[in-house]
Amino acid sequence: MTDALAISGLTAGYGRRVVVNRLDLAPVSPGTVLSLLGPNAAGKTTLLRALAGLHPATGSVRLGERGLLSLSLADHARLVTYMPQSLPQRVALTVLEGVIGAMRASAPGGQLVPERDVADRALSVIERVGIGHLAMTELSHLSGGQRQLASLAQALVRQPRVLLLDEPISALDLYYQLRVMKLVRELAAESRMIVVMVLHDLAIAVRWSDRVVLLADGRLIADGTPQDAITAAALADVYKVAARVDITPDGVRIAIDDIL
Ligand SMILES: Nc1ncnc2c1ncn2[C@@H]1O[C@H](COP(=O)(O)OP(=O)(O)O)[C@@H](O)[C@H]1O
Ligand SMILES: [Mg+2]
Repeated sequence: MTDALAISGLTAGYGRRVVVNRLDLAPVSPGTVLSLLGPNAAGKTTLLRALAGLHPATGSVRLGERGLLSLSLADHARLVTYMPQSLPQRVALTVLEGVIGAMRASAPGGQLVPERDVADRALSVIERVGIGHLAMTELSHLSGGQRQLASLAQALVRQPRVLLLDEPISALDLYYQLRVMKLVRELAAESRMIVVMVLHDLAIAVRWSDRVVLLADGRLIADGTPQDAITAAALADVYKVAARVDITPDGVRIAIDDIL
């Protein structure tokens, strides 16, 4: 479990429109939580879908020695899981059934779970996400934030090597925003999983990420530790805002003063 994720010359788009343009990313080490930030339409979702093998792309995406772009969708899905930005459909399945379905769809960590362990494994993931009390509730009866947590449980149960989360905390209240960020960090440390997550909240990103990548117009604007990547100049460039960024003993503090 020591394979780094490396991206070079990655290009993806829609028809003739190029959205992600020859993107290079220095290898992402196992156990890293990387936040992908950038304005609307920067190409974040397109990039994640390309990494997941769900959107056609050219260039190279490697996990250790393996070239991911040439894998079959089934092999790709065993290594990389993508949690979409859109919330799961309002289907007549319980939270538990949804997680069991996700587990059956791809053998977690490449190993088939013995049938007698399936429900326990699913329940323990649901509990770690903090929605044990909703296990028997139908997905169609959940609030938006609760469905987002159920969707996260479905992604986590697959135990991928690379977990791609597209705005996973956008519908969550403050408690669950932090709970999810802490859980993601714990899991990355425990299993050496690589997590790439799209976030909009800069303060949360700098507090909980090992590495931050800023994307604008499908190009990489900054990449580094939160302290290095999040600068007033980078925020002005990417978001067109006037910001103050202070590095304090407690971490990076950001104040957004105005739009430019
Ligand atoms: N299915 C699609 N067909 C055509 N253009 C698309 C499609 N999905 C996204 N785009 C365009 O690609 C660009 C990047 O979109 P996206 O990757 O969703 O950005 P982000 O996730 O950073 O907001 C946008 O200009 C968007 O309009
Ligand atoms: Mg998006």
